[in-house]
Amino acid sequence: MKKRIAMLTGGGDCPGLNAVIRAVTRRALMEGWEAIGFRNGWAGVIQGDYVVLDRQRVAGILHLGGTILGTSRTNPTDEQLGTIADNLKKIGVTTLVAIGGDDTLSVASALYKRGVPVIGVPKTIDNDIAGTDQTFGFDTAVNIATEAIDRCHSTAEAHSRVLVVEIMGRQAGWIALYAGVAGGADVVLLPEFPMTLDEICKIIKSRQASGKNFSIVAVAEGFKLGGAAILQTKELDAFGHERLGGIAERLCRDIEKVTGIESRSVVLGHTQRGGTPTACDRVLGTRYGVKAAELAISGQTGKLVALRGTDVIGVDFDSVITEQIDKKTGKPKLRMGNRSVPKEFYDLAKVFFG
Ligand code: F6P
Repeated sequence: MKKRIAMLTGGGDCPGLNAVIRAVTRRALMEGWEAIGFRNGWAGVIQGDYVVLDRQRVAGILHLGGTILGTSRTNPTDEQLGTIADNLKKIGVTTLVAIGGDDTLSVASALYKRGVPVIGVPKTIDNDIAGTDQTFGFDTAVNIATEAIDRCHSTAEAHSRVLVVEIMGRQAGWIALYAGVAGGADVVLLPEFPMTLDEICKIIKSRQASGKNFSIVAVAEGFKLGGAAILQTKELDAFGHERLGGIAERLCRDIEKVTGIESRSVVLGHTQRGGTPTACDRVLGTRYGVKAAELAISGQTGKLVALRGTDVIGVDFDSVITEQIDKKTGKPKLRMGNRSVPKEFYDLAKVFFG
């Protein structure tokens, strides 16, 4: 019987997913393996719902956003982890490649602990996964957010307004930091670094005093004004995440009140995740996919594919898993570690404030 590599894409979609699927498939086929893809994340493995991936099925998908396999935020219960292990055996899967963010990868490492041969590929526009210098999808999101900031400049200047641009990233400020620096934002606000309304307004007022009639504020959705993030709903998702959103509108109202300058908010939302991946993300996704297949071929599992410097390597799950409090149960749980913006990088952005 031929060896079989299986894939799934879990969590929020992300530009470059199809590049990974194509790369894993092509490299595995080259070795004489079969490739299959489970539909809709962990839900597909629980239900045994998969498609065979051959050369034709992965043709013409490199440049496409989304994922040909579909995705979901399904968080398997302990019992379902058992079902997943059984189904993989039944379907004859030699190695499973889980392409996802911290949630999907946390499930992957739990499965590995149960003896399932699995490899992780770090996906997320948020760029917040420990152990890798970059996740695929991040570059595309940064480019979309940068273009949005560029566009905000001309309209803000024409109307002498403050424009507050809300950027995704959950508890990490990577996208807002990169887009803020690349787009020349006048203030960049990140979840990792608190700033008061007074401090923000002082920067805007000092710009006005120096003759600049407009300001651009790049704010990460997880920025905490007065110590608390703004939520769209109090409900938590399957992995215990809050739904963030609304900080730009809140800041916009407060800034206008304090400074007297007319202000508007812009929420980039899911446009940052949609559409075609940049060339960088296509290449990174391709490198990750080929590496994942090669690890599988050489029998190395329990690893996360990672970018370190300019190299793509496999790092042990154990080195990137940390004990964290599960927000749903309040109990400690082993989870994929997160990566925040370091102070030195934020200090660089601050050089250009005002
Ligand atoms: O993790 C990726 C991400 O886009 C975050 O930046 C954002 O907070 C979240 O997903 C949005 O999730 P959903 O698509 O489920 O609303």
